[in-house]
Amino acid sequence: MDYSDAKFSFEGPRVTLRIMEDGDATERYAGWINDPEVNRFLGTKHTTVQGLRDYIAQKNLQKDALFFGIFLKDGTHIGTVKLEPIEHEKNCATIAVMIGDKTCWGKGYAAEAMQLLIDWCFQELKFDEVNLGVIAKNAAAIRAYEKMGFVETKREMAYVQYGDEVHDHVLMALKKGS
Ligand SMILES: CC(C)(COP(=O)(O)OP(=O)(O)OC[C@H]1O[C@@H](n2cnc3c(N)ncnc32)[C@H](O)[C@@H]1OP(=O)(O)O)[C@@H](O)C(=O)NCCC(=O)NCCS
Repeated sequence: MDYSDAKFSFEGPRVTLRIMEDGDATERYAGWINDPEVNRFLGTKHTTVQGLRDYIAQKNLQKDALFFGIFLKDGTHIGTVKLEPIEHEKNCATIAVMIGDKTCWGKGYAAEAMQLLIDWCFQELKFDEVNLGVIAKNAAAIRAYEKMGFVETKREMAYVQYGDEVHDHVLMALKKGS
């Protein structure tokens, strides 16, 4: 499916999701990616505003990706959530989330944002499953995903090295109706 002309947005009780735009590439957003506490378990450890602009443009060109900003109702940008790849032939999608504004951690915003996209995948796209990958040591993320009903499906040992630390990778899935 071609999403390139779509103007998707989703409204939850506390957050709004809309497709990321060039103007969302700000110093504040770059600061999240460059913050060791935020990027501890992320693949990207450094970026610039231009790097973010390029990334947003690339995602908006991809036919198998939808990249959303997570905004509070007052318009404050607090993070991102992405579906990629969206696999119609397999009836599934992979989701990834980042709450970059650390004052917003521990408030269930990641789950609220993810649930909006998961409901869309199950109800509108008629997908059977949404899956994700997470570093095994990312206890907060795993806790958030388990609360939503995600279950571990596979563990890849010594998957990636960040600095001196070698990390295992956990694949998790949420099946429709589970
Ligand atoms: C991980 C992340 C997505 C969680 O989002 P969130 O909206 O803060 O999630 P929640 O509010 O549901 O809180 C996470 C849960 O983990 C718990 N938690 C926090 N730190 C924890 C830790 N070190 N160990 C175990 N549990 C922890 C919280 O108490 C909460 O559980 P509770 O509701 O039962 O109290 C968010 O912190 C984030 O984006 N971090 C940076 C980027 C990142 O790691 N993204 C995920 C990549 S897979």
